[in-house]
Amino acid sequence: MSPVPFTVAIDGPAAAGKGTISRAIAAHFGFAHLDTGLLYRAVGACVMDGADPIEAAQSLQPDALEDGRLRTAEVAQAASRVAVIPEVRAALLDFQRDFARRPGGAVLDGRDICTVIYPQAEAQLFVTASAEVRAERRWKELSAKGGGRTLEQVLEDVRVRDARDSERDTAPMKPAAGARVIDTSDMTIDEAVTAAVSHVEACRSARQL
Ligand code: C5P
Repeated sequence: MSPVPFTVAIDGPAAAGKGTISRAIAAHFGFAHLDTGLLYRAVGACVMDGADPIEAAQSLQPDALEDGRLRTAEVAQAASRVAVIPEVRAALLDFQRDFARRPGGAVLDGRDICTVIYPQAEAQLFVTASAEVRAERRWKELSAKGGGRTLEQVLEDVRVRDARDSERDTAPMKPAAGARVIDTSDMTIDEAVTAAVSHVEACRSARQL
């Protein structure tokens, strides 16, 4: 483990492969990993339980990230609704920035990591895929867990969330100027991970770490 901070920032839409790639990079380089979507999902889940979104974000506790409901399609939509609120985003900022600079290296994945949370990140990626491919991947995942949504419903969910995430005023999802774009539509998991790891390796060599 390198004692020097090194940050890998990964953005992109739902089900593009960000999570798999982030975990693989974290394991490969021995870095800590933060799935920042979980923060918004935890706030969304509190709102589904009747909480005020801003208060929920300001008082979020780490154990809220362990809630078993966070991976459901309903919580995903609730997350993207609270994520348009600037005060919610502001409340989650310091935690993410502190994580980004932890000694030993960090990987953060989300929608605005390269653009807003940590534009100084030494390695930046934007991982994407077509809406149809992403919907099919998400539908297979949900079906394996016994979810009752059709492929058409999941595609509609993906499109609604993409539009809300990329058209909001605060921290809209978009590729950062310095990010390497990886389109995983026609890639296997191994190919996508290899492309991402080699980009990070190149960024590390450029800094002679
Ligand atoms: O990545 P995940 O699908 O878990 O994210 C859930 C929602 O949280 C996204 O649709 C997005 O609205 C929001 N989000 C965000 N910024 C991040 C991470 C997630 O706005 N950095």
